[in-house]
Amino acid sequence: MAGTHAALLERHRRVMPAWLSLYYDEPIELVSGSGVRVTDGEGNEYLDFFGGILTTMTGYDVPEVVDAIRTQAGRMLHSSTLYLIRPMVELAERIAELSTIPDAKVFFVGSGTEANEVALLLCSTARRSNQVLALRNSYHGRSFAAMSVTGNRSWSASSLSPLRVSYLHNGDRYRSPFGDIGDEELTAVCAADLRNVLETTTSGDVACLIAEPIQGVGGFVVPPDGFFGALKDVLDEHGILFVSDEVQTGWGRTGEHFWGFQAHGIVPDLVTFAKGLGNGMAIGGVVGRADLLDSVHASSISTFGGNPLASSAALANLDYLLGHDLQTNAAKVGEQLMSGLRQLLDRTGLVGDVRGKGLMIGVELVEPGSTVPAPAAATAVLEQARRRGLLVGKGGLYGNVLRIAPPLCLSPTDASTGLEALVGAIEHVEGTSMPAGGPR
Ligand SMILES: Cc1ncc(COP(=O)(O)O)c(C=O)c1O
Repeated sequence: MAGTHAALLERHRRVMPAWLSLYYDEPIELVSGSGVRVTDGEGNEYLDFFGGILTTMTGYDVPEVVDAIRTQAGRMLHSSTLYLIRPMVELAERIAELSTIPDAKVFFVGSGTEANEVALLLCSTARRSNQVLALRNSYHGRSFAAMSVTGNRSWSASSLSPLRVSYLHNGDRYRSPFGDIGDEELTAVCAADLRNVLETTTSGDVACLIAEPIQGVGGFVVPPDGFFGALKDVLDEHGILFVSDEVQTGWGRTGEHFWGFQAHGIVPDLVTFAKGLGNGMAIGGVVGRADLLDSVHASSISTFGGNPLASSAALANLDYLLGHDLQTNAAKVGEQLMSGLRQLLDRTGLVGDVRGKGLMIGVELVEPGSTVPAPAAATAVLEQARRRGLLVGKGGLYGNVLRIAPPLCLSPTDASTGLEALVGAIEHVEGTSMPAGGPR
């Protein structure tokens, strides 16, 4: 089996675009999985602490989800939204109720990008404005509108945009440009900045603010609880809508709440979702105020959105998630991982910050004795962790944040096995002197 990956990599490079980046010096193919474990094409087994970028939510090969897909696949893969789709309607009813938004309606699409595209269309239509607010260091997807509300240069391939976007401070406590000022003051300063941005960079009639409650690709940046409540108070003075991008934070991953926005004492006008809902089946969507969902006055469809197969998978997946109370598990096992990782703050100079909620934990690596980002060290830790049988992710504006986001079914035993591998990898990398600015 040796050489299997190398041969596939060569074929991959020939037909896939150069910007589709792969992890590891010697990229791997994951060919099967069960629970939180995956096996690669050369027979190596790993604990997976990244879940296909927070998408394998309830675990690999969950019989209830796989059976629902098999059953639906045997009946009908696709009919189109020209016809009634029972699983889509049932799924919309479930999500509308879970959203906590009164009398909500739902529209399904095939990805997180499309979900945000829909939300931006709804807000700009309802408010008759193409002015939008977004956060610095955000990631919302790869279409022109989604890219234009993405505040991260390395993910912004084009500046062409249908929107006029103003960027707000994101409440980053580790890298706050306002210094070490504490949560309350940071929130107040950022709310004051919002007022100033509205007065100086817009004509006032702004459509919406779109924000991730915890920035995902941005390196699991967690603003203070209540941060978005303070921003929303200002938005409400102007009738500006609030869109919560829950593509990474939704479905109980943060442990303490089902949605990320619930840490902020607000109910958004629209919530966008994707990733974990289908456990790997392509489904995303928008849930929100019925008047906003109804505000589009031209026909519109998403051919694949809410199709019978994806909706059946999502229903079974949600049932499994709620039936096994995986949100509570995320809180419990997340705390175990967090307290283990926090010990590294005293033990190593390489770890500058450990943050997150539930099973969404960021470990920011820096040059020891400073806050200078250490992206080469992050790459080296990923490599070392893989050698120890653990897959983790990476992100952050500077590519120096390890992202820990396993499936929500992670057991305490697997958590300590993974923790041991990760700590070993970090300590190994700290022990080998990394040349500053080495390979990323
Ligand atoms: C917060 C957030 N929004 C939107 C997206 C885009 O989702 P997709 O890749 O499914 O288009 C992502 C993807 O990583 C994301 O993390």
